[in-house]
This record gives sequence, C-alpha cells and structure tokens, in this order.
Amino acid sequence: MSKLPLIVAPMFLVSNPAMVIEAGKAGVIGSFPLLNARPISKCAEWLKQIKEKLKDHQWAVNIICHKQSNKRYEEDLHLIKEFQPPIVITSLGHPGEVIDIVHQYGGLVYSDVATVKHAKKSAQIGVDGLILVCAGAGGHGGTLNPFAFIQAVKAFYSGTIILSGSISTGQDIAAAQLMGADYAYMGTRFLVAEESQAVEEYKKMVIESTMEDVLYTNAFSGVYANVLIPSLIKEGIEPGSLKSREDIDLSHLVDVKAWRDIWSAGHGVTSVQKVESMKDIINQLKKEYDSGVSRLVQND
Ligand SMILES: Cc1cc2nc3c(=O)[nH]c(=O)nc-3n(C[C@H](O)[C@H](O)[C@H](O)COP(=O)(O)O)c2cc1C
Repeated sequence: MSKLPLIVAPMFLVSNPAMVIEAGKAGVIGSFPLLNARPISKCAEWLKQIKEKLKDHQWAVNIICHKQSNKRYEEDLHLIKEFQPPIVITSLGHPGEVIDIVHQYGGLVYSDVATVKHAKKSAQIGVDGLILVCAGAGGHGGTLNPFAFIQAVKAFYSGTIILSGSISTGQDIAAAQLMGADYAYMGTRFLVAEESQAVEEYKKMVIESTMEDVLYTNAFSGVYANVLIPSLIKEGIEPGSLKSREDIDLSHLVDVKAWRDIWSAGHGVTSVQKVESMKDIINQLKKEYDSGVSRLVQND
C-alpha cells in the first residue's frame, strides 16, 4: 500500500497523544493543540511521551499565536524550544517568533490561512508550508473554493501546500494531491476515532449528522466556525436567533466551559459513519487512496 500524504489535523479538546502516536505508527502525521494539555506540566508530559514513542516519525503540535487569546503563549513557546516537535502548526496570529525558534532546531512551520491575503503574508514571513483552510472545514472553516484557492496560492508560493476542508476519504486525498497539494489535512474524519477525547454523545452526533446539520457562524467568538446545529439545540439555543458578532473573543480557549458543549464539525460529517480505531481509519483511507490513484492511472 502507498504512503498516505496525510496530516491528522489538530482539534481543540479532541486530539491527544494516543491519536498522535497511532497516526505516526500508521505512517501519517498526527498533531495536537498544545492548549489541549492543561496545566502546562501535563503538556510537557504529553510531549515527552510522544517524542519517546515516535522517535523516527514526523508529528506536529499546534500553537495559537494570537497572544490576547492564548495566555500561555510564552510557556507554549518554551515547550516548543525544549521538546523540538518536528512540525509546528500555527493558527490565529503572527507566526514570526515561532518560525525563529523552530528553524533554529531544524523543524518546520506550517501556518493555517483562509484568505489569499493571509497566505501572502505568511509566505513572506517565511513559513515552510501553508495550510489552506477551505469552505466546509471543521473548526474555524474558510469560505474559499479549494480549486481556486490552491491555484491562487501556487502563483506566488513554492513551499509545501496542505489542503483542508471536508477531505473525508482516501480518494479525496488522491484528489487533493492531483490538485497540487503535498498533503491532505483532515480533522472531522478523526473526531470519532476510538482514541479521540470527544465525549460519546459528540461522537454519536457526528455519526448521525449530515452537512445540512452544519452551521457557519461567528456568533460565539467573532471568528467564523462550523458548528453542529443539534449541539446548539441540545443547549437550548435556537440557530435562527444567533447574532453576528463583530468583536473577537477567543476566551473559550482558556475558559473552555462554553466550547465543551457547542460542538464543531465540517461538512465531511456526512461521510463519518462509525467509531473506529485510528489504525482502522488510516488503513481504510490507504485502501481508498490506492483505488483512487489506480482509477486515475486506468483513465490515462
Ligand atoms: C472539533 C474541532 C476542533 C478544532 N480545533 C482546532 C484547533 O485547536 N487548532 C487548529 O489549528 N485547528 C482546529 N480545527 C481545525 C482543524 O485543524 C482542521 O483545519 C479542520 O478540521 C479540517 O477540516 P475538516 O474537519 O473538514 O477535515 C478544529 C477542527 C475541529 C473539527
């Protein structure tokens, strides 16, 4: 079977060392948001554990660079310096300091971008890869069409391109590669992994939901995110009553109470059908990827 060009995307309150280690053992790149491990001493333990288990494999951490939101920013930077994760994924904010630190030890920095303007800015700062967050992505999804976005970015950027947004099957991964991506970036497909920290009710909702159940709203933090309508209803929130929010307030990253009950997923929920181990999901993706690639070869 072929090697999958896949990064299992970092997911707030969901990703953990078990997911990262299983991803690495299965030959793909796993990741977790540093803020998932609290307090900071626990984060150091997670990093130590992953580093020991994945000596010869790639893995990644995610740091929120928006300093007003990430009160642990300096401490997170310190942990990156100490544990030297091979890849650091930055989201929200300026990745400059992270680049300096990670490049010093020979690591790579990939940055989340959802607009061409932001992609240009990150490219100029010197990131090693751009994660193009397209329409339908879980978490803070974008609005751009992946075909158009990837071509627009390729016009000025020759680094690694990582495509995200509802990539759900191995055939989708092959398609992303055909479009010019070096890696596919998948979150929602892994929400229901046995190893994931999502509570059972959340996993059940992801399995039962379709893309019609996903709402794109900035009502909660001022930053647009895709959330599951059934999770709003469960909390007594009428989706039609949500108001657009102009100010950015990402305090849920620190005070997680609200976010624990409002659940996010991308349009790819439609393809998620059962709880499975990381190993089984990745094996399934590998089979689908091979069949996708051979379909293209046959059509040649
Ligand atoms: C529940 C959930 C939480 C997420 N949390 C984060 C996060 O903490 N940091 C981040 O950079 N991206 C986060 N994301 C976005 C993912 O890293 C990734 O961009 C997205 O899941 C890709 O789209 P997909 O879900 O359609 O596969 C999250 C996504 C989900 C579904």
